[in-house]
Amino acid sequence: MAIRTHSVKIWDLPVRVTHWSFAILAPAMWITAENDAWAWHTRLGHVLLALLIFRVIWGFIGTETARFSRFVKGPGKVLSYLRGDYDEKREIGHSPLGALSVLGLLSVIGAQVSMGLFAGDPYDGATGPLNSLVSVSTADMITETHEWFVYAVFAMIGLHITAIALYAGLRMQNLVGPMVVGQGEKAQGVTGNSSASARNFLIAAVLAVGIALWIWFGAPPLT
Ligand code: HEM
Ligand code: HEM
Repeated sequence: MAIRTHSVKIWDLPVRVTHWSFAILAPAMWITAENDAWAWHTRLGHVLLALLIFRVIWGFIGTETARFSRFVKGPGKVLSYLRGDYDEKREIGHSPLGALSVLGLLSVIGAQVSMGLFAGDPYDGATGPLNSLVSVSTADMITETHEWFVYAVFAMIGLHITAIALYAGLRMQNLVGPMVVGQGEKAQGVTGNSSASARNFLIAAVLAVGIALWIWFGAPPLT
């Protein structure tokens, strides 16, 4: 029997904007690196850094479906999800399994961006803003890892997009629509996401931009 549904709020605007920015910036970082467009690689890298910091802070002070504490579940919940004990029409936000892919994606991109900050050779070509804080040989090692780790980033993204396509094809679940417009169809009685707090948004945005700018200038001492 088809259940009656209504449209509810699932994702807030900051989650959607950071998401689609990651989706554009990840390939852009690769394209700029492959074309030796280092000034753009570094500029866009700092934008990506600010967005990542924002998303992590928003994971603590954002709306309900953005919060890690709400969607990151223990192995028991992941196993019961895999056994089919989960009614997606009655839940909003990331599923227990989806939560793992969120953590995976944010971690691999976070690791790649962090390595980029120290990457490069001061005597030859572009360098990240924190390159001078490590020795030339350490920077060399970080740069080599940064070069191959791009495949780990793309493998994670490939898995992510495959999973979304499988949900659409096999389980007839449209996850993409809510990530674009913020709303989705859920069973009657299910309440939507909480509202975003302007104050918390400002705290996250100021911290994210502030830290990214500080790093851009080589993380000078603050005193
Ligand atoms: C190409 C780079 C991409 C990256 C790095 C990426 C990363 C992420 C991250 C970090 C999340 C968690 C969202 C959050 O809570 O902040 C997420 C969720 C999501 N992404 Fe992506 N994404 C990418 C591409 C795409 C594409 C191309 C699509 C669709 C065609 C897509 C569809 C989604 C959907 C539907 C969700 C929510 C899943 C759910 O309902 O739990 N993503 N993605
Ligand atoms: C998702 C994020 C990133 C991706 C996918 C990425 C990708 C790459 C790739 C593929 C290379 C190797 C290019 C080559 O020599 O063939 C590279 C090198 C480099 N990246 Fe990134 N990068 C990212 C983030 C960053 C960030 C945030 C910074 C600094 C702000 C950065 C700074 C550098 C530097 C300095 C090099 C070495 C340049 C050289 O060899 O002269 N990267 N990056």
